[in-house]
Amino acid sequence: MKRVYIETYGCQMNVADTGLLYGALKADGFEKTTDPAEADLMLVNTCAIRENAEQRVVGRIGELKRHKREGDLLGVVGCMAQRLGDDLLDGTRHVDLVIGPDGYSGIGDLVARASDGERLVDVEFKSWEHYEEITPELDGGVSSFVTVQRGCDHRCTFCIVPMTRGPERSRKLADVVAEVQTIASRGVTEVTLLGQTVNNYNDGVDDFGQLLRAVGQVDGIRRVRFTSPHPNDFTDNVMAAMADVPEVCEHVHLPLQSGSSRVLKRMLRRYGRDDFLRCVDDLRNAMPGITLSTDIIVGFPGETEEDFEETLSLVNEVGFDDAFTFIYSVREGTPAEKLGDRVDPKVAGERLQRLIADVRTIARKKNVALVGKTAEVLYEKEARRGDLLQGRTRSNKVVLVERGKDSIGQYEEIRITGTTGSTFTGVPNPQRRALTVV
Ligand code: SAH
Ligand code: F3S
Repeated sequence: MKRVYIETYGCQMNVADTGLLYGALKADGFEKTTDPAEADLMLVNTCAIRENAEQRVVGRIGELKRHKREGDLLGVVGCMAQRLGDDLLDGTRHVDLVIGPDGYSGIGDLVARASDGERLVDVEFKSWEHYEEITPELDGGVSSFVTVQRGCDHRCTFCIVPMTRGPERSRKLADVVAEVQTIASRGVTEVTLLGQTVNNYNDGVDDFGQLLRAVGQVDGIRRVRFTSPHPNDFTDNVMAAMADVPEVCEHVHLPLQSGSSRVLKRMLRRYGRDDFLRCVDDLRNAMPGITLSTDIIVGFPGETEEDFEETLSLVNEVGFDDAFTFIYSVREGTPAEKLGDRVDPKVAGERLQRLIADVRTIARKKNVALVGKTAEVLYEKEARRGDLLQGRTRSNKVVLVERGKDSIGQYEEIRITGTTGSTFTGVPNPQRRALTVV
C-alpha cells in the first residue's frame, strides 16, 4: 500500500479539505501516515492569506524535500498553489504537483501521471465543485468541520481569498445533511459549518436559517457551530434559527477588521461602525449569553491614529471574548495593493501591541467573572498537562478538568474554579447546580 502524508496550514476549510484529500486518495489505494519520511506522496495544503503564511510554507517545502526518496512525490495544494500555479514548479525542481482548491477530484489521476514523470499544475476554478463523490476522512476528533459553501463573491480589498478559492457556491442542503448524518453515525456530536460568508449560504431553495434547522435535527448532533459569518448576512431568518435551534451554540466569530467607518469603506467591507454595533446588539438579543470573537487588521493603507483609536474604542465597547489580530499584509493582485498611504511597519507593529493589550484586558475581565459559574463541557482531548482533559463550553470557553481519557467525547456539567485569563480550570459539578454559563 502506498502512503500519503499531508501537512495543513491556514484556516478550518483547509483542515476540511485535507479530510477530502485523504478520502480521495484512500479510494486510490493510499493510506495515511504521520511520518513524512515513510510517505510515497507528501502534500502541503497551503494558505496565502498573509505573506508570513506563505514564507512558512516555502520553508517547509525546503525541509520536506529531504524526505524525498527515488519515486516519491511532493505536491503543493491549496490557496498558495492556486495563487502561484506554474511559478511553484519553476521555483523548485522538487515540487511535482500543484493543485488549487477546486482540483482535488482529479488528484488520483494527477498523482498517477506525476508518478510517470510528468510535472503537473491544475489551478482551474470549477464553480460547480462540491466534492460530493468523495467521502472525507474523519480525523478521529469529537468535532468535525463540514464545508457548506466554497469560494467568495465579496471583494474586500485586502483579501486574496476570492482569487484563490473562486466564485461563491453553496452545497445542496440535502447533501450537507447527508454528510452530517454520516459523521453523526460515527459518534461525532458537534459540527462546525464552514464558508467564507457562511450565513449567506443559499442553495437556490434554502437559506442558512433553514440549513441550521436541518443540521440541528440530525440524530446524534448536540452542538452546531459555524464560521465565518459576514455581519451583513444575519437576516431575520438566520437570527430566528439561531434563537430557535437548541443545538446552535452561543458563540459567533464575527470578523470586524476595523472600527473606523472610513477604513471599512476602503476595505470594501460593506458595513460601517454603527452597522457592526447594531449586528452585535441583534445577536445578543437573539441569543442571550452569546460570546463573540473577531478578526482585526491594523495598519491597513491610510489608517490614521484616529482610525486606530476607533478600533480600540469599538473593541472596548463590544467587549469581545477573543480576537485574532493581524498586521495588514499586501497581497499581489488585490485591490488594496494599489492604495497609497502605506502605514509605517513600525507604527503598525505598535498598534498591534496596543490592540492585543486591550483585547487581553477585556477577555481577562470577562473570564474572571465566570469563576464559580457552571457550564456544560464537551471533552475534546488530553490537555498538555497530564491527567487533565480539555473540554469546551457551548460558548467556546476552553476548560481543563481532571478526567480520564475515556471521558473524551462525553458531555459533563462542571463548575469553573479558576482562569489564566484566557482558559479555565473546572471540576465536575456533582450537585448539578443549575447551569449559569452556556
Ligand atoms: N471570510 C473569511 C476571511 C478569511 S481570512 C472569514 O471571515 O473567515 C481570515 C482573516 O484574515 C480575515 O478576517 C482578516 O482579518 C485576515 N486577513 C485577510 N487578508 C489579510 C491581509 N491581506 N492582511 C492581514 N490580514 C488579513
Ligand atoms: Fe475575504 Fe471578504 Fe470574502 S475577507 S473571504 S473577500 S468576505
